[in-house]
Amino acid sequence: MKTVLITGANKGIGFETAKQLAKMEYFVYLGSRNKENGNEAIQKLNAMGITNVAVLVIDVADIHSVRQARQELESKISSLDILINNAGISGDQSQDFATGNVENLRKIFDTNFFGTIQTTQEFLPLLKKSGQPAIINVSSEVGSINMRLEPGRNTNRDKYNAYGASKTALNAFTVMLANELRGTGIIVNSVTPGYTATDLNQFQGAKTAEQGAKPIVQLAIQSNPDMTAKFFKDGGEVSW
Ligand SMILES: NC(=O)c1ccc[n+]([C@@H]2O[C@H](COP(=O)([O-])OP(=O)(O)OC[C@H]3O[C@@H](n4cnc5c(N)ncnc54)[C@H](OP(=O)(O)O)[C@@H]3O)[C@@H](O)[C@H]2O)c1
Repeated sequence: MKTVLITGANKGIGFETAKQLAKMEYFVYLGSRNKENGNEAIQKLNAMGITNVAVLVIDVADIHSVRQARQELESKISSLDILINNAGISGDQSQDFATGNVENLRKIFDTNFFGTIQTTQEFLPLLKKSGQPAIINVSSEVGSINMRLEPGRNTNRDKYNAYGASKTALNAFTVMLANELRGTGIIVNSVTPGYTATDLNQFQGAKTAEQGAKPIVQLAIQSNPDMTAKFFKDGGEVSW
């Protein structure tokens, strides 16, 4: 049975991704920064008859928490097949670069960018022990520079400039890490769930969390070891 760690999986898209992968016989470590919320999520899955899941307490923005989580996982498994960096925050408004609060920008980057990097670095040794390791970074279309440059584009979601920039940086991390790891067997890709109704956007998104999880699950179960440094959405690729 393959093992997967999903950060921020106590609710929203991460929880749905955990549910769908566990139904496919993956063993899922459900990352949650709050232990009680994580346990509640496990109970929900257990009530659906899904038992191949366990909680792993991890706050990606706190290096001590990330190290503790890595040590705990190392005591349980000898290799990790898939790391899904899903934990993320959208941050407060306003996110205009001309006037926005830089501390807000820093906070968003601490979770979405630096949090992802420090989590990945800690779990890389366990991933290297897998026969077919993969790192999946959950990104967003609002991080796509090419989409931002589309003529006439000015959607409500484009107000999230700081959040968008954190996902642009995350996409850069995807490509550069994928290139660093070429030839090691570890693949690294970005994926967007699409605009999904979750706490992140006060449930404004058009998709359900179940639908949002689909492209992430598709990427997790694909078996092409050469598919790296790409940015996927449901049914295709996204322009960087
Ligand atoms: N919803 C959308 O439309 C959409 C679109 C594109 C991309 N995404 C991306 O999809 C991912 C999941 O978001 P979602 O929509 O499912 O939002 P969500 O329901 O708010 O879930 C976010 C998850 O991340 C966790 N989290 C936040 N900060 C964390 C930290 N420092 N350490 C560990 N976990 C942390 C949250 O934990 P708590 O419960 O403790 O807060 C929660 O479990 C994010 O990366 C988001 O950027 C979402």
